[in-house]
This record gives sequence, structure tokens and C-alpha cells, in this order.
Amino acid sequence: MSHEDFPTERPAVVTCGLPYANGDLHIGHLRTYVGGDIYSRALKRLGQRTAFVSGSDMHGTPVAVNAAEEGVTPEEFALRHHEQYEETFPKFDVDFDNYGHTDDETNVETTQEIVRTLEAEGYVYEKEIPVAYDPDADQWLPDRFVEGTCPYCGEHARGDECDEGCGRHLEPGEIEDPVSTITGNPAEYREREHKFFAVSDLQEYLAAFIDRLEGTSNAQNQPREWIEGELQDWCITRDMDWGVDYPGDDDLVLYVWVDAPIEYISSTKQYTDRVGADVFDWEEAWRAIDGSDEDDERDAGSGGEIVHIIGRDIIQHHTVFWPAMLRAAGYAEPRAVMASGFITLEGKGFSTSRDRAVWADEYLEEGFRPDLLRYYLATNGGFQQDVDFSWGRFRERVNNELVGTVGNFVYRSLLFAAREFGGAPDVDLSEDVGDRIDEAIEAFEAGVNEYSVREVGESAVRLAQFGNEYIQRNEPWKLDDDDPAKARVIRDCVQIAKAVAVLFEPVTPEAAENIWDDLGEDGDVHAVGVEAALEAPAGSFDEPTELFEKIPEERVEELNEKLEARVAEATADDGADESEDAGAGADGDSSDAGPAADLEPLADERIGFDDFQDLDIRVGEVVAAEGVEGADKLAKLTVDIGLEERQIVAGIKQLHDVESLPGTKIVVVANLEKAELFGVESNGMLLAAGEEADLLTTHGDAKPGTKIR
Ligand code: 2FM
Ligand code: ZN
Repeated sequence: MSHEDFPTERPAVVTCGLPYANGDLHIGHLRTYVGGDIYSRALKRLGQRTAFVSGSDMHGTPVAVNAAEEGVTPEEFALRHHEQYEETFPKFDVDFDNYGHTDDETNVETTQEIVRTLEAEGYVYEKEIPVAYDPDADQWLPDRFVEGTCPYCGEHARGDECDEGCGRHLEPGEIEDPVSTITGNPAEYREREHKFFAVSDLQEYLAAFIDRLEGTSNAQNQPREWIEGELQDWCITRDMDWGVDYPGDDDLVLYVWVDAPIEYISSTKQYTDRVGADVFDWEEAWRAIDGSDEDDERDAGSGGEIVHIIGRDIIQHHTVFWPAMLRAAGYAEPRAVMASGFITLEGKGFSTSRDRAVWADEYLEEGFRPDLLRYYLATNGGFQQDVDFSWGRFRERVNNELVGTVGNFVYRSLLFAAREFGGAPDVDLSEDVGDRIDEAIEAFEAGVNEYSVREVGESAVRLAQFGNEYIQRNEPWKLDDDDPAKARVIRDCVQIAKAVAVLFEPVTPEAAENIWDDLGEDGDVHAVGVEAALEAPAGSFDEPTELFEKIPEERVEELNEKLEARVAEATADDGADESEDAGAGADGDSSDAGPAADLEPLADERIGFDDFQDLDIRVGEVVAAEGVEGADKLAKLTVDIGLEERQIVAGIKQLHDVESLPGTKIVVVANLEKAELFGVESNGMLLAAGEEADLLTTHGDAKPGTKIR
């Protein structure tokens, strides 16, 4: 990898976290895939040679457990979902250059070859460990076949992941009070020999790697303490039939997290097989130049520009385990990891079991175009921030920005141009308009180099906004036909519309294609470079079509009613369990569902007004924020409460992008007794709502220190 700005001479591989082939896709899942597609298109617009790859994650207990529930083989079950995903992604214009799956021949071969290399290089050893066993079912209980208590934070957890607490990966034998998910009975631990990958041998390498890793700040910061702490080796085998066989041992399969990321490589190989190495060479992208050099900086100078786009719950896998595996097997390391925040629906978690989701198919069946959702997901918050979806906000953003700003500008400009000039007038572009387009191109490039899909999308919208102001200011409709200013203003507007098509293509590919057609441009808007934004328009064209349609308010009511009715029905149905969705980690399915039944009951006892007045609650402003070393959940904030600055420790590290908190207004209980958390003093408490620690803030401009009553 390199640290040069994009585009570079090296090939880039953009990957999206592999969805487990175990359920229907909803719009929460799409955040990662739309983000990946936008990023890969944007790189291509910059002229970067890029392969955009992913595949379905077929193995592991997430698939085996669901298949067993349905009474079919994991293979049949996973293949069915794989085919479904393969059909769904293109419907959202998520255009992978290759989409494979982890059970295909390429991946099985590549995985086994990499594991053999790890063995040959001395990174694999055997060890006897306790493995959960269900005596009633007479079965070993890998990963999601067992549940219990997380040994690190005490929360309820799955066998391989503390999904409700600290988010850590858990090794076999670690979970306390194990219970079988097959029979519901307590499980017992039995000794069993397994294979381990010596991640701890790569500690020094990983510490240097994380310093040069680019991407979103959550992916750079979270892993530091894992890497700097005591690095655990990974058990890479499981007692199951479904999976990639461990080479040379028929009794064991590889842990799903071995063959899953290797699909990134396999999928790239398949792309090369299809297009030829002269178009895209997977080895150039993935192979480290010199596998024998022990210098930690080695990989900084080899391989391609590998960018992983994932949900934030799988940061550890992509910044510790995976780079360790790549390094040990002689492959190139990732240049960047972009980890998205979670997505909620009307302020609450998605819950597939309660049908509390907007399903991918449902969205399309409602007649909405993919561009609208792509725009919403890309720009409704920074990539690493949590994003809430509501039909109301969706409508607002579509109507105000897509229809009101982009659609309106393009339509009025091209209509005027077609009617008055039969297309783009043949005069020069004004210098200041050229400069403004240049500025938009620069913002687009900065978006790519800063790994911000939001910035990529907003560069085009801001340009359209400028176009609207420009046409309004110059009022060409008031100018005489023989006034040269009229032709110039229209020529400028047509150029801006063309630039909007080019710069908005990654986010709204369909709208870009429509503008391109309306402009009578030759060639493919999906293949041009950003420089096309400043190339002279084709010339003549007819009256344009409308780009986007307004969503009427009644539609929002109707959609909300449908959602509520569905959730009520699913909740009333006894079959609605708490089972979680498991797609690519980006779904934010907190399974907290929505109905009032899930809310804590109201307190029975009333308190007097005086009791309330005893609380000194103040507006605060975060001045600085950082994670507390050694604590998975805690963040240390310096908060300005007007009269003084306070140090406050809060359990929000994994729920918020701590680095982006400075400047945020919060609400602080200022007269709470001081406490010490992880050896750090906390002088006050911030208020936050619910499991996701939604931070309370003020609606207006109240200054830090203002008393809250
Ligand atoms: O967490 C998940 O949903 C996994 N299926 C993601 C795998 S991503 C990759 F590394 F393979
Ligand atoms: Zn935990």
C-alpha cells in the first residue's frame, strides 16, 4: 500500500464485508454495500484501476444454525441466499466486478493454500482446549451453538462474540456458564485438540501496521488497545462438518473467519480470470513483493491499494486477525479500513424477527428508485456515524435536495437551453464558473482521499446549489436573445449540469445516466473521468426529462402505518423470538425491537419537586475526548460546563466516534459524587438514552453552564 493520494499507479481493490448467506437483506445491510459501491465508483472516476469485490459468507454457525432451524442442509440454505443476494445488489446499482462465495472452488483452494503457508512458516500450533459440548445432543458446540456470559464484561454473549456487551471476539472455552442453543441445557466443557494461529507473534508488525492504516478513525483507534494489550492467538479450527476442511485433517473445518476474508482475494482472482491479467492482475494487488523481509515497513511498499468497507462490529477481525494472516502468508496489507456506524429505524434497532425493518425488496416494490436510498445512506451522516432511517426524513431529503436542488437545477437549465438554443450555445465557459466546477472536483477528490462517501456525494449537490443560485442571479429569461450574456449563462449552466452528472455518478448512477442522455453526450457516464466535468458539452439536445419525483406526505403516513401494522402482527405472533440478523455487521440489528413491551416500565414511586431540584444539571460542551486505556467501553471527556472544565468518564467508547465528539453539546449532572472508573476520576455524569447511549443535547443555543430545569 502507499500513502499517495488517489489515483496511484497501483491497482486498487475495494471490498465489502461478506454478508452471511442466512436471511433477507434490509436497508441496514445496504449501508455497507452502497458505501462500497460509491467509493469504488468514485475511485474509478479518478482514474484509479479498481476491482470492487465481495461474496457471500456461506460457512460458520450463523448459517448452520438457521439452516438447522429450517431443516435443510447448510449448503442448500446458503446457496439459496447467495443467489438472492447476487440478484439484489444490482437492483440497488451495487455493481461488484466480482461477487463470489466462500464455498466455491477458488476460495476453498486459496484458503487451504494460505493455511498451508501459515503452517510452513511456523505460525500454526496445536493445543488442547476446553470446548463446549452438549451431552444430550451428543454434539460439540462451536460459536453460535453456545451462549453464556462474557468473561470480559459480564454481558450475555454468543460463543464467539460478545455481541451485546464489549464487542470482543471470544475464543472457544472462554464463555462462562455455557448453555447449548440446540437443547437449551447447560453445556459442559470437554478437552479437545485444536489448531491455533500465532497472532501474538505478529504483535510488533501489527503495532506498526495500525499506525499506517488509513480509513475511518474508529478503525484506526479501536484496535490499538487490543494490539498493545495481550494479543490472543486465534483458534482456527472447529468441530463441524460445514466449512472449508482443514488441510490434512478431515475431522476439523476452518473457523469461518479464516475463509471469509480470504474470499476478498479469491473474488479478485475470479475477476482476473474473467477480464485477463492485462486488465486487472490480482497478484499485483494482493502479493507482497518480498515475503522474506522481516522489516515491519515492508508491506508499506508492496501490493495494491486495498480498501475494506465493513460494519463497525467487525473492526477487530479486519485490523488484527486479517492483516496478521496476510502478513504471515506473504500477502499485501490493507491500505484502509472504512467502518460504518449502525443504522436504526425511526430511532430504534432493526429487528428481523419482529419484521421491524425496511426490506430491500420491499423498498423496490414500493416503487422507489435505488438512487434515492443511495443518496440518503451516503449523506445522512458521516460514514462512521450511526444513521437513523425514517420515511419522514427520507421524504424530506428527497424532496428538498434531490428534487429541489439537483433535479430542479438540471431540469430548468436544460429545458431553457433546449427551447432557446436547441442545446448548449457555442460560446466559451465563464472563468468563474470553470473555477467553481474545479472546486467541486477538488472536493470530490478530497472525499475519496479522506474516505468520506458523504463528501463525495455532497460535492455534486453543492455544485447544483451553486447552479441554482447562478441561474437565479443572472435571470437569463429576462435577457434579449441577441444579448451575448444570455448564451453565456446558459452555456455555463449546461456545463454545471454536465459536471453534476459526472460528480454525482457514484451516488446516483441512474440520475447521472439520465442527465448524460438528456445532454446528448456520447460514451458512458459510468466510465468517464472527473475531467469530463469540464469538457465542452456535446452541443444539441432536446427537452429534458424530470430527474426525481417528489414524495407526497401521504406516502410517508402510509409507509409508517404499514411498518407499525407489520411489527404489531409479528410481535403478537409467538414465533417472534429475539433472534438476530447477521448481515455483514452493518445492519445495526440491535434486536431491541420497538414496541412498548420492550421499554422499561415507568417508575411507580413519585419524587418531590425538591428532590428533582437537588440535581444540578447543566449544558456542557465536549472540549476533548479519548478512549480510556485498557477499558473497552469507556471514554474520557473534558467538558466545559461554563464555570469550569470537568473530566467525565462515560461508557460510550464503542457507541460513538469519540474523536468527533469535541464541539458536541451534552447534558451533564454536575453535582453527582465523584467516581473512579478504571483508575480514572469521573467528575460528573453525562446523560444518554438507551442501549446505544444516544447523547442528550440541547435544541437551541444554550451556552455551556446553563442550568437545566
Ligand atoms: O460479520 C459478518 O457478517 C461476516 N459475514 C463478515 C465477513 S467479512 C469478511 F471478512 F469476510
Ligand atoms: Zn463482553
